[in-house]
Amino acid sequence: MELKPFKRESVMPLPVAFISTMSKDGIRNIAPYGCIMPVLRPLDLICIATAKRRDTLDNIRDTGEFVVNLAGDEFADKVIPTARAFPADEDEFEIAGLEEKPSKRIRAPGIKGCYAWMECELFKMYEETNYILIMGKVVHLEVADEVYGKDGLCNVNKARPLMMMGADKGMHFCTVEELGKFEPFGAMFPKGKDPLAKMYEENSSP
Ligand SMILES: Cc1cc2nc3c(=O)[nH]c(=O)nc-3n(C[C@H](O)[C@H](O)[C@H](O)COP(=O)(O)O)c2cc1C
Repeated sequence: MELKPFKRESVMPLPVAFISTMSKDGIRNIAPYGCIMPVLRPLDLICIATAKRRDTLDNIRDTGEFVVNLAGDEFADKVIPTARAFPADEDEFEIAGLEEKPSKRIRAPGIKGCYAWMECELFKMYEETNYILIMGKVVHLEVADEVYGKDGLCNVNKARPLMMMGADKGMHFCTVEELGKFEPFGAMFPKGKDPLAKMYEENSSP
């Protein structure tokens, strides 16, 4: 079946990340973002696509900071309360009944109960007529101990990352499952050696 080109997210599951920011006056804001991706392995950049009328965008422009909060499927009920447009002076942690997790490197707080947090500083913005790509540099990355295991693997069966599929009338929420199939990065390279392997050893969890 052929689909209209704009229906990309009807065939591509998207992560639902909650972006938390703080306005220059200290008002806390949260918004769900599905258009988000890391920029290549092993860089520390993350890119989000944003429409132009977003408090999130204004706050990132004003403060140069944001947190990407990765949530489990139990946060599905928090998507609409944080996606509704509220005046910029309303505290969206309070509206959504969410508690903050103080950040280590930036002022904007994260969200308690998520399974991972990326504290980001604005790196670059790419602006077009009706959207902006925001690139953030991850300055502090943290994961809940109970979902992070040996070999740097996040257990998705425990974390149950919140994701969505678009459909004609709305969003269907879903998660991912571990298939139990593993391939080393080295398998992509001629001598079976991952040129970035040393970085992962140096950065391995304690
Ligand atoms: C599941 C989901 C994913 C979304 N993804 C994006 C996105 O990637 N980019 C965007 O600009 N808006 C996205 N939105 C819309 C914003 O979350 C929504 O407009 C929100 O009110 C923005 O809040 P803010 O003005 O406080 O930043 C998404 C909404 C939902 C429900």
